Amino acid sequence: MTSGKGGVGKTTVTAALGRKLARAGSRVVLVDADVGLNNLDVVTGAERRVVYDIGDVLAGRCRAFQALVADSESSLRILPSSRDCLSISAQAFSQVIASLPDFDFALIDCPAGIELGFHRAVSAADEAIVVVTPSASSIRDADKVLSLLKSYPLKDASLVVNRVRPDLVRKGETLSAGEIGGLMRTPVIGVIPEDDAVTVYQQLGTFPIDSPSDRAYAYLAQNVIERTKTFHDVAFRRRLFRFRA
Ligand SMILES: Nc1ncnc2c1ncn2[C@@H]1O[C@H](COP(=O)(O)OP(=O)(O)OP(=O)(O)O)[C@@H](O)[C@H]1O
Ligand SMILES: [Mg+2]
Repeated sequence: MTSGKGGVGKTTVTAALGRKLARAGSRVVLVDADVGLNNLDVVTGAERRVVYDIGDVLAGRCRAFQALVADSESSLRILPSSRDCLSISAQAFSQVIASLPDFDFALIDCPAGIELGFHRAVSAADEAIVVVTPSASSIRDADKVLSLLKSYPLKDASLVVNRVRPDLVRKGETLSAGEIGGLMRTPVIGVIPEDDAVTVYQQLGTFPIDSPSDRAYAYLAQNVIERTKTFHDVAFRRRLFRFRA
């Protein structure tokens, strides 16, 4: 899960998608590759249960499976990192991920930027999901990242458009998720609306259930599990419903 630009929702999308996949029966591990500013453990509420991290695995203080932290709300596992992991090479990082027990999905939460942290995370991945918001700077950075990703042997790259404001899309004040995907010539597999509840619930290490973003994450998880790229724009669906009513 990468983006170029910071603060667009990579960690939030990683955690929310991970829980949806786990609840659907997949074996999921979330890997915190944002080693300097790691907060995947915080947004999942697992912070206090962290004993070991990726650095401990590489130093031989524990095995990879021993560093995994169980999620309190689902069967997913979290592989934490810390500042001690800053000097880890891309190769060593990939080796830790390869040594994890069998999982259906390992979601790697990439740091912002396109430096070593980005390289480390992308080198360990098979596929990329680029998270983008409808702001001009996010779109520009996501576009640069998509170009950079072409130099890695990834099987696939797709987009998740986060923090979509249906009201602004309707007024033509921001691009729609479909337009963003079209501009970048990349399939949009998730459209997550702006949802105040996300920020509120995140402080408690959880996610809102039955909110617009929750339904949007269910569609994203369906695409990931079924390996489809169906475009579900939650904002657009609601507009259709209103029109019929
Ligand atoms: N759909 C959403 N609606 C409202 N707020 C959101 C949504 N998605 C994410 N946020 C909020 O945006 C902020 C940034 O999210 P997050 O930390 O996931 O971004 P990030 O891309 O991982 O940032 P960084 O680049 O620093 O790692 C958080 O406060 C989060 O609650
Ligand atoms: Mg993050």
